[in-house]
Amino acid sequence: MKMLRDITDLKDKKVILRVDFDVPVSDKGQIEEPFRIKKQKETLDYLVSHGAKVVMAAHISDESVGESFAALIPQLHILLGHEISFIKTVAEIAPYLDHYAGPALLDNVRQNEGEKKNDPEFAKKLADGFDLYVNNDFAVCHRDHASVSAITKLLPSYAGFIVEEEVANLSRVIDAPKEGKVIIMGGAKASTKVPVIKNLIDKCEAVLLGGVVSNDVLKEKDQDMGSSLVDTDTQALLAGLDLADTRLVAPKDFVVFDNKILDIGEQTIRQYIDIIASAKIVIWNGPLGLFENPVFAKGTNEVASAIVASSAMSVIGGGDTISAVDKIGLLEKFKFVSTGGGAMLAFLAGEKLPGLEALN
Ligand code: 3PG
Repeated sequence: MKMLRDITDLKDKKVILRVDFDVPVSDKGQIEEPFRIKKQKETLDYLVSHGAKVVMAAHISDESVGESFAALIPQLHILLGHEISFIKTVAEIAPYLDHYAGPALLDNVRQNEGEKKNDPEFAKKLADGFDLYVNNDFAVCHRDHASVSAITKLLPSYAGFIVEEEVANLSRVIDAPKEGKVIIMGGAKASTKVPVIKNLIDKCEAVLLGGVVSNDVLKEKDQDMGSSLVDTDTQALLAGLDLADTRLVAPKDFVVFDNKILDIGEQTIRQYIDIIASAKIVIWNGPLGLFENPVFAKGTNEVASAIVASSAMSVIGGGDTISAVDKIGLLEKFKFVSTGGGAMLAFLAGEKLPGLEALN
């Protein structure tokens, strides 16, 4: 993989920079979790200070802003510390490059039909007029999209600082000896967590479960789940995983409301904290309860506090996990916070990520 930091001359180079600004926005139009945007600043600053002409491409899925960056530009100025020009369509990129006036952002790249289809013709339009492509969006690397994949066939392509850092940190924790390695998987989308568990269970000492993935495991163990959220085909989902494996730790007690499991219980919290206290590496994705409601946030909050209080190399990721720990002021205390949600999980599951393959 070629790295941005290895480019010796960026002066006047026209660079298309793939970034991740896919953040939650409140009904009032406020960016609710700016972590991913702030993370882009280092690469953007580097390019700008080395004289590159930068146009950023990104996607946004929040419907409260109509899946457009238009209304968010003033907030981006503040978060990135640059005046950001706004380019509405791909056709407006070439004229902008001719009269370049500082870093710019193209509106939601997914508004273009060819983006999700990885259409080479669309990639050609996107690449037109640029000298270089830099992928600084690890979080989208599990998508075979034109601004991630097809474009790399058309321009000399490099990994930005975020992609470089993510690959280094995630590889390091995967490859580290299993002694003292603890994985915590919670959250709502069990189908993205189970492949991680299957890939890493032999490479760690314990997998602590919460959220829907633990509900699925308990359902398969014939526990009465009441009205709790469970996947329909848990048998197929969990196939190949030995549920009797003692390394797979399911909660023993719960906080139940309205016949639904909404958090892990006191005894489980104590057990998880004990395991974390002697861990050397903790990898965590997915809250352990319905953390949005403070009544059901205790498991998530106590586990977060135990991780930052331990001496373990801690790696967390996923939008909800980041929001949960940010809410209690602990985000900065984790050793590495991945910008990836699905991409982080796919990487941990040992899958090949199209965005990374393309850079290779
Ligand atoms: C994310 O939010 O994980 C990335 O921005 C990728 O978004 P996607 O899941 O909509 O492709």
